[in-house]
Amino acid sequence: MTSVGIDAIEVRTGRLKLDLAETFAPEQGDDPEKYTKGLGLFSSSFPDAYEDIVTMGANAAHRLMERKGLEPEDVGRIDVATESSFDNSKPVSTYIAGCLEQVYDGDFHHANKGERKFACIAGTQSLDDAVNWILAGRNRGRGALVIATDTALYARDSSGEATQGAGAVAMYITEDPDLVELSTEQGYGSADETDFLKPNQQFPSVDGKRSVQVYLARMREALEDFERAAGDTHPDDYAFIPFHTPFPGMVRKAAVLGYRHMIRGTDVEDELADDIGRQPRRDDFDSREAFEEAMSDYVDDLKETDAYREWYGEAIDPTLSISSQVGNWYTGSVHIARVSALKHAVEEGRDLAGQKLLVASYGSGAQAEIHEETVQPGFEDELAELNVDEQVERRYDLSFSEYEQIHDRHNHEKSVELEPFTQPDSEFVFDGWGPMNERQ
Ligand code: CAA
Repeated sequence: MTSVGIDAIEVRTGRLKLDLAETFAPEQGDDPEKYTKGLGLFSSSFPDAYEDIVTMGANAAHRLMERKGLEPEDVGRIDVATESSFDNSKPVSTYIAGCLEQVYDGDFHHANKGERKFACIAGTQSLDDAVNWILAGRNRGRGALVIATDTALYARDSSGEATQGAGAVAMYITEDPDLVELSTEQGYGSADETDFLKPNQQFPSVDGKRSVQVYLARMREALEDFERAAGDTHPDDYAFIPFHTPFPGMVRKAAVLGYRHMIRGTDVEDELADDIGRQPRRDDFDSREAFEEAMSDYVDDLKETDAYREWYGEAIDPTLSISSQVGNWYTGSVHIARVSALKHAVEEGRDLAGQKLLVASYGSGAQAEIHEETVQPGFEDELAELNVDEQVERRYDLSFSEYEQIHDRHNHEKSVELEPFTQPDSEFVFDGWGPMNERQ
């Protein structure tokens, strides 16, 4: 079987930063620890006045192509995943290809372009499409550019305002990849849900509390479905488990659900039984409510065990470091979780080659997908090329009134002219509407 997966990855954050504890919490009258401890978020990224989903995506893709020495002829497909699109007809990939054509001699006329939509999971769906295209033998030796790019904005004074963010992830998908190989088995949990919607509107209508429950329900289904395809999972099977991360606190809830599912009937459950008993079984209870209460008590105890804490510290916590600084990037979110984890392994000097990741993607509306990836030898060389720390560090730190201005600037309904807070380097910038004009 041909080995197909992610050969290279690039990350591009919006150039502005909102400090949630120092700047946002006091204005909301909130305890800063609601953000730093409860949600697990320290700051969020925002696009400057000259940035949007096209420029962030094009800048990520350009940096990737430059350092991999790629030319347009090496790219047979450009897929963009976004839930912040501004065009109901033309895919954002055509705008991004237009930007890239300004800096390369060749063009992308030969490349198939599209735009995927299924909330945040569209980034992983585009990745799957690219892998399938190569496995089907339709790529003629070329790779696919997959770009997940979003500006996650919520209405002012809504509860979602705490979990905003903006950035893009570009990935190059090839045979014999340098970073991770994707498994062919996938598990899905999918249902028609209405907890998070944007029907012809920019800001989501979101039932935040319910959205958390829907995420967990679909993730459990996806894990069960993955096990039907690939066999039982065990926590020790995976070096890291990158989850879709709207905010790290969400992943804390998903991780314990995944762990309890994976240890059921294993040596780990046996070892913990003396201290916290065994997991309740539905058949032992007369009502669903009684079962759920017993399970909730079990999970509370499980979270306090050394076994769980150690596993969480190794397999989950390292996936959250970038997200805790940049917020929710919707389609890019699970992909920065993977980058965080691999970066952490490199910093610790761990050789992960041959080890597995369990990647848990999610999109509202709602669908979860679980698949495995195998880390490739030399992955650390690819990670060494990333400059994500510098990008995060050099963001302009907004005051609250500047944040209000930039939120208005990116609000399609009342978009205002605004002087940028940072100066662009040699990068793609948004230079105004009508006709849309992206320039270098
Ligand atoms: N110290 C420590 N912790 C504190 C605290 C304090 N002073 N104050 C509050 N907290 C804790 C709370 O206990 C809570 O933790 P638990 O959930 O573990 O109990 C956490 O901080 C958040 O506090 P609230 O629940 O009171 O926060 P909220 O109601 O204002 O909003 C939210 C939280 C519902 C997630 C909201 O931010 C939201 O609607 N976000 C957008 C929707 C979203 O991201 N949903 C996630 C699932 S859907 C998805 O994943 C798709 C996607 O990308 C959008």
